[in-house]
Amino acid sequence: METDTVKIAVLASGTGSNFKALVEGDTAPGVVDVLVTDNERAGVLQLADELGVEGRYMYPGKFRTRFGNAEEKQWADFLEDRGIQLVCLAGLMRILKGPLLEAFHGRILNIHPSLLPAFPGLDAQGQAFRYGVKVAGCTVHYVDQGTDTGPVILQRAVPVYESDTRDSLAARILTEEHMIYSEAVKAHCEGRAVYSRVVRQQKE
Ligand code: GAR
Repeated sequence: METDTVKIAVLASGTGSNFKALVEGDTAPGVVDVLVTDNERAGVLQLADELGVEGRYMYPGKFRTRFGNAEEKQWADFLEDRGIQLVCLAGLMRILKGPLLEAFHGRILNIHPSLLPAFPGLDAQGQAFRYGVKVAGCTVHYVDQGTDTGPVILQRAVPVYESDTRDSLAARILTEEHMIYSEAVKAHCEGRAVYSRVVRQQKE
């Protein structure tokens, strides 16, 4: 029996290397259907064009780090009307608070460049580098109301070397991001990952 395709929308604000990894990686039965950005000048728009994926800019509202409520509803309506089943955040520098979370509850994934719950928020690689950790990494997780919280699907660790700079560490992490994002999307699309928290009870 053939598995039905899962239509994916990628939301991104910047360069789009994770978007590219999702388009080119094995996410089957998931297929990237559209790229939506909140940044008219984002390199990811050009990349979408080159990769033959429809790319569009949508106004996010007047705030810098979150959506306006009306605008978030417009984004959610657009994605629902298009029949999108999974939303992948790939460097979207904006938190979701309302309509998108409601419309796609349990069907929004995010990639974050740290081993969460360590170093949530902006410049996670810089935070890890400055802290002096010896192991860093990246996480794919389901999105909830928090900032970089939500059930973890996959993580991968990388070593931090004495010779590293913030940027050399970020590059090492990014290579792993590209690998685990496709793997996690595939796992979700095949039903091997679901939005549920595993609560581990402490033994007496
Ligand atoms: C990636 O490192 C991604 O993990 C990070 O932004 C970068 C986007 O790069 N996301 C976050 O920090 C979200 N909290 P890309 O545009 O080349 O995919």
